[in-house]
Amino acid sequence: MVGERVPIDAQRVDAPLSRFAVFLVVTVEDGDEALQRVRDVVPAVDDLLKTVGFRDLGADLSCVVGIGARLWDRLSPGARPAELHEFETIVGAVHTAPATPGDLLFHIRAERVDLCFEFERLLLGSLGDAVRVVDETQGFRYFDARDLLGFVDGTANPIGAELPSATLIGDEDPAFAGGSYVVVQKYLHDLGAWGRLGTHEQEAVIGRTKADNVELDDAPGPQFAHKTLATIVDADGEEFDILRDNMPFGRPGRDEFGTYFIGYTRRLWVLELMLRRMFVGEPVGYHDRILDVSTAVTGTTFFAPSNPTLRALAQPTPAAAETAPDAPEPAEAADGSLGIGALRTPPS
Ligand code: HEM
Repeated sequence: MVGERVPIDAQRVDAPLSRFAVFLVVTVEDGDEALQRVRDVVPAVDDLLKTVGFRDLGADLSCVVGIGARLWDRLSPGARPAELHEFETIVGAVHTAPATPGDLLFHIRAERVDLCFEFERLLLGSLGDAVRVVDETQGFRYFDARDLLGFVDGTANPIGAELPSATLIGDEDPAFAGGSYVVVQKYLHDLGAWGRLGTHEQEAVIGRTKADNVELDDAPGPQFAHKTLATIVDADGEEFDILRDNMPFGRPGRDEFGTYFIGYTRRLWVLELMLRRMFVGEPVGYHDRILDVSTAVTGTTFFAPSNPTLRALAQPTPAAAETAPDAPEPAEAADGSLGIGALRTPPS
């Protein structure tokens, strides 16, 4: 990639749509030792990105780290992003969106599957027995960005200036500005049932044509298409977008076909409302028919801090240091610096 400077930086929520992705969800073991290991490894994720990503800059390796509410409170007690809380199970009349455990999400993307693999291998090696893997899903781009239902997926994503304003927290929560809420759900499809619907019916379920991806007019109701149920507009007509980077995954030999849903948002309530409209229905009772052939098997919410905020988690917050049993008195440098050497002193 001539002229492109090292495109390696952690927490690039807006990293380009990649050919491959790994969605890795882990829980962190109890106890100070495991927490310290997380503090040592996770804030330094951009160093690991350089280690692996520099070997092929054109492959555009990136990783976004998401932190669940429970772990956030262990790492940074007393200072939680305004909307962060655990995923709440949504029970509709027919379908349920289950809540499943997860303290850390690693959304690893690259143009080469070996870079994703290598990054994940080294990462898990460093985390060691401080974490337990809950789910590891390897996604791939399928033709022209289609999901395994055969539809082009991701078209209505925000672009340009709309992208940061839809995904990154701003002045409304200044301590966490530049961060993003992330929700993941792993869906398994019944492709046999989907195939029996026929193309015309499938298009009505999604709200776009299958071959050429053209948006269809809304049905008069009460049964709305997926794209309509997932559109959130407030009383003043303002539309609230999220950024999706869904990926297909599967193992035909095991009859496993799925979509890994991942959504980044500045406003968690927007994504939660989309889910409610899909599972409970809008109007109530008219759920998203995508769910009749797609079963959500996981559901977890995370906060992806900006890279500076992520790096700051390497140091316990003052509140954490005070509450830690037998915590040594913090050594305060006379100059008010962190007292960890001139190399780390910020430029004045
Ligand atoms: C089985 C899982 C899912 C599949 C296969 C799927 C597939 C699709 C497809 C094919 C489209 C139309 C093209 C596009 O604009 O991307 C779409 C649109 C969309 N989906 Fe999904 N989706 C899934 C789950 C979800 C979930 C869980 C959410 C949010 C909670 C969501 C939010 C959206 C949004 C916001 C749009 C764009 C609506 C618009 O403004 O036109 N999707 N999805």
